[in-house]
Amino acid sequence: MRARVFPDYEAISTAAAYVVAGRLEEEPSSVLMLPTGITPLGMYRRLVEMHRSEGLSFANATFFNLDEYLGLAPDHRASYHVYMKEHFYGLIDADPARVFVPDGAAPDPEAECERYEAAIREAGGIDVCVLGIGRNGHIGFNEPGAPFDSRTRVVALSESTRKVNAADFEADRAPERAITAGMATIFDSKSVLLLASGTNKAGAVAAAVEDEVSESMPASMLRNHQSAVLFLDEAAASDLGHGVAG
Ligand code: PGA
Repeated sequence: MRARVFPDYEAISTAAAYVVAGRLEEEPSSVLMLPTGITPLGMYRRLVEMHRSEGLSFANATFFNLDEYLGLAPDHRASYHVYMKEHFYGLIDADPARVFVPDGAAPDPEAECERYEAAIREAGGIDVCVLGIGRNGHIGFNEPGAPFDSRTRVVALSESTRKVNAADFEADRAPERAITAGMATIFDSKSVLLLASGTNKAGAVAAAVEDEVSESMPASMLRNHQSAVLFLDEAAASDLGHGVAG
């Protein structure tokens, strides 16, 4: 796993957008796995700009989202369906038949998870997986303790994650569970790009990069990945010791 440190959030966002755009230029039918949250918003903005001003096309790409809250209908304003539509899928030329977001309102969530894994397999696996990182080191909604061999499944959200995300929900009550792509689902991606910005991620970044590889720090799994890179701004890199490539 390599870490690259950029001066600020805009620089990470631009660099991440270039990774995705470069991959699509090489192979327009690439399969991408994408995150939600505050961190990737700049990357999505840049990709939308590239689509509008430079003709970058997403028409042949396939998209999978990392996760979705359990119990939220796809039109719920705090759902990741709505987030992705507003910030990305609705603003580019994505083919709706190749856009996959777990259905948080599926009557049989377990079957939905299996369907999701099968769709990833049918698409030929993930080429590029873009991730954020939680303050507790989670990736997707794989909270500390998530088994490295886990697949797409229903998970309980940690109290700290529910607190961080509470403002998106009425009465500050975030859902208790979610569907997330599993640790092994993520690990099987041909390449992984993790984005982190801000001092509130510095502790998790340092633990993931420098402490032992452990299920108690989900992002540390990426250290064993052949092609994982972290794009950090200086704030997110501020707890790292020496020896990290700049
Ligand atoms: P954030 O979320 O980008 O909103 O900080 C990242 C995450 O929790 O994975």
